[in-house]
Amino acid sequence: MSESNLLDLPFGARHQASSRPADAGRVLVSDAFELLRGLAPESVDLVVTDPPYESLQIHRARGTTTRLTTNWFATVPDARLPELLREVYRVLRPDRHFYLFCDEVTADVIKQQQGVGAARLPNGARRCSCGFSYWKEVIWAKTTLDGAKIRGGTGYHYRAASERILFFEKGKRVLNDLGIPDVLMSPRAGVPGPAVKPGAVVRTLIAQSTAEGELVVDPFCGSGVVGVEARGLSRRFLLGDLDLAYLDPSLAALAPAGAVVARAAAPSDSEARQPPELELLATISASEEELEAARACGWIEDDAPTSALEKLMALRPKEREAALRRALRADAIRPSEPETLRAWRAWALSGRRR
Ligand SMILES: C[S@@+](CC[C@H](N)C(=O)[O-])C[C@H]1O[C@@H](n2cnc3c(N)ncnc32)[C@H](O)[C@@H]1O
Repeated sequence: MSESNLLDLPFGARHQASSRPADAGRVLVSDAFELLRGLAPESVDLVVTDPPYESLQIHRARGTTTRLTTNWFATVPDARLPELLREVYRVLRPDRHFYLFCDEVTADVIKQQQGVGAARLPNGARRCSCGFSYWKEVIWAKTTLDGAKIRGGTGYHYRAASERILFFEKGKRVLNDLGIPDVLMSPRAGVPGPAVKPGAVVRTLIAQSTAEGELVVDPFCGSGVVGVEARGLSRRFLLGDLDLAYLDPSLAALAPAGAVVARAAAPSDSEARQPPELELLATISASEEELEAARACGWIEDDAPTSALEKLMALRPKEREAALRRALRADAIRPSEPETLRAWRAWALSGRRR
């Protein structure tokens, strides 16, 4: 193992600075494209990822669920997807797999961009312009908690109850279990965070396409479920995201010092509570507990609103809630905060409304 990085990977120079002892996993705050560009060619064994694709904006614009309207993130434009596939192809070792979670619209976009048509290779797969062979869409079918039935979500043209996982291959690698069907049944993840994927589905993909000790990468990691499952299967992992607020608490120690892992710090025993109207805080008309919380998070000083609170109040009502949640998530939690502020922070993570 080289001394210059943790995962025996030729990371770019800016990823080499850590003095942490070698271990099986790393979590970075990074732009996904930069993270991939920082990796040497043919240095990774599997990429499983779930980019914030452009068509999610449609759901957001329609405001179909609370989660989509309040706890959201920037999306990657469709025009950048070819770059993503190119980079993933470059960093994968020969004879490796790549799984990409998406919806049916993005699946169509990617196939068009990659020139995937009707023509099949002799083995039955279809060629992508970036070099991958495209095999098929594996389906995550969303079930009830007990797994007994498919559980429909939003939409009026048959309720949405599935997500696509595009399955690509570089070279030739045989799946570890040839008996696994292409529909993977699992309930929704049920942990805080936008678009979290279930551990059971991710575990199947990793178990199918890697051996122990191999390196799994997810550059849009969100909750870090890919790292959690890779670790559970004794694989190494590298995760990145622009925002680690929702990272699984069990991975928090791997995050860079100073990164805000709000989920790890959130009080599990605190009841989530939404802050009052900001005008009530600004005019010192809220309850004493609420004012104390607002002082503790720097929204009120000397009984006057600070610029942080004024900035939030200047936002249009439609944008305000999401900004408020972001502000509460991004602020590092201090020890001994007022109980009301802890409850606001729990609300900021939960996606729930009043
Ligand atoms: C669909 S979510 C991933 C959810 C994840 N699969 C899970 O199960 O928790 C997409 C993630 O991409 C992150 N993101 C958005 N733009 C990014 C970028 N340019 N680079 C890295 N991460 C980005 C968001 O912060 C979000 O966590």
